[in-house]
Amino acid sequence: MQGFDYKFIEQLKNKNDIVDVVSRYVRLEQKGGNYWGVCHFHHEKTASFSVNPSGQFFYCFGCHKSGDVITFVSEIEALDFSDAVKLLAERVGLALPTIKIDDEKIREQKRKKERLNALLKDTALFYAHNLRTSNAEKHNEYIKKRGLDNQTAIKFGLGASLNFNDLPKYLLEKGYTYEEMTASGAVDVKDGRYYDSLGGRLIVPIINQFNQVVAFGGRLLEKADFAKYKNTKETIIFSKSNNLYNLNNLKKLKNEKGLDSVIIVEGYMDTISLDKAGFYNVVASMGTSLTKDQARILKRYTDKVYISYDGDFAGQKASIRGLEILKDEGLDVKVVSLPDGMDPDDVVKNLGREGYETLLKSAMPLIDFKLDILRKTFDINTVDGKRKYVSKAIEVIRESPSPAEQEDLLKTVRSLTGTTIEALKRELYSTHKQENLVQTNVIHEVNDYSDSKTAIAGRFILYSYLFNKPYAEETDIKSIEFILPEHKKIRDFIVNRIDNGQKIVFSDLFDEGDTENKELSKIAGLETSSNNSYDQSTYFNDCLKTLKLFVVNQKLETLTKQFSSETDVETRRKITVEMSNLYAIKKKLI
Ligand code: UTP
Ligand code: MN
Repeated sequence: MQGFDYKFIEQLKNKNDIVDVVSRYVRLEQKGGNYWGVCHFHHEKTASFSVNPSGQFFYCFGCHKSGDVITFVSEIEALDFSDAVKLLAERVGLALPTIKIDDEKIREQKRKKERLNALLKDTALFYAHNLRTSNAEKHNEYIKKRGLDNQTAIKFGLGASLNFNDLPKYLLEKGYTYEEMTASGAVDVKDGRYYDSLGGRLIVPIINQFNQVVAFGGRLLEKADFAKYKNTKETIIFSKSNNLYNLNNLKKLKNEKGLDSVIIVEGYMDTISLDKAGFYNVVASMGTSLTKDQARILKRYTDKVYISYDGDFAGQKASIRGLEILKDEGLDVKVVSLPDGMDPDDVVKNLGREGYETLLKSAMPLIDFKLDILRKTFDINTVDGKRKYVSKAIEVIRESPSPAEQEDLLKTVRSLTGTTIEALKRELYSTHKQENLVQTNVIHEVNDYSDSKTAIAGRFILYSYLFNKPYAEETDIKSIEFILPEHKKIRDFIVNRIDNGQKIVFSDLFDEGDTENKELSKIAGLETSSNNSYDQSTYFNDCLKTLKLFVVNQKLETLTKQFSSETDVETRRKITVEMSNLYAIKKKLI
């Protein structure tokens, strides 16, 4: 359980009542056995977010998110599991279980980090103060030239470095050592001389989701033939690959208003300029390609991202890998096409808020974007170019899990190249990529399956065990065959608890780190919406029958196939016997 033992988590949850904890973020009203409020995980006006005190879990009827108190805190504070646990432990004054050997080392490291945090915060305040003095005339002029105002400068904590010497002097007076200054990245040293790393520049502080200043970007005020931005170096509290610019504001926005998507841009100025134009849900990747860590961070804030990189072809081509990383983390990725040579900042300046809004609305799904790139890469007016384009395009289309989407995309390729749909399909289904195909089809079947009668039955049966319904006691869960893989996982959890003589507590399932299991939400939904208008006990037995019937039918199907391909008379006879037994069972079930 990610570093914490079961006993500790249990204690933590006992002390952090979910209704109390949620109430700090969401206004709840009691109705029936549950508490209700407006969901913070998606946009809504009516209260479809419920908290169940006896089961200690939450469930939203709108977005179907569910979880226990730890899931809730990690979602709303955008923390990972162990940080959410720490936060909850702190709130109730519960000591975290510590690992003794490294204790002293960890404490020392923590102290060091805290010093650097304090130093960088003082540095940010120092720069921000500079900007408000008459010595920062050039900096202020530059801010104005970029179309920004005071309010935006304050929101983003912009500042001014006036020269190379003031900062180290100031920090020394504040009691920081030179060693700390250089360790923070704010100060550099050359030939024994300490100087402001970003001397003379306009300062953009990089602030993390906990509102800590972790690094700075500094922009030159004039054109020069060297890099216009310089960033402070990577340190024990900052690494570019697991940070995004503007997370502090994003988190605040999420907590105050909710978020349904995040726009990813490349630059500081793009972020700031979009904010001024009223697009607040923006983060910047700071010019590097996206990493898995960054994708995971984003996933804690949203399920849907718009990627809005500079409108030059080379840049777009290079960003595809980053986009794949986002997709692999389960984010829905849309690509915003910007006019050639423009970045988002240029777009809002030249085309206004509405202009950018229009581009956002016409953002393309990742797969369309990839096809677009291919079309621009190959010259489809030549025979060779066309052949290569078709072959690469088919590879891309194969990635789509939806036959309907594949069909649409094939039509696009047809109209561009004049190749017939039949020929394209032949290539799509050609044998050398069979593996992919099989995998895709399997995913399909499971998807289609999740709302079938059998899935609903399995769900209700699990629900009955998870909420300790008395009518389920007579049936041994081990004798039930579940069909969905997600159901099998939940069954294993229940069996494990029973075998260890432990009580079944629904909210414990969320600790298994299996938040991807959509079935959990659906089961939570059953408990929250359950009323006594139907006889649950009878329904339970019907569900058992449904599952059994499914299994029998499956077996019959297999046997029928075997029978028709079997030539041996004796084997055929055995199959017939087996089949007639199954038919007898089936008859009893219906
Ligand atoms: P851009 O050049 O797109 O940034 O680089 P921008 O914010 O639009 O720049 P201006 O101020 O409008 O000209 C994207 C990001 O790449 C990083 C910065 O984080 C920048 O915001 N970068 C860029 C550097 O670190 N160093 C550089 O020299 C250039
Ligand atoms: Mn720019």
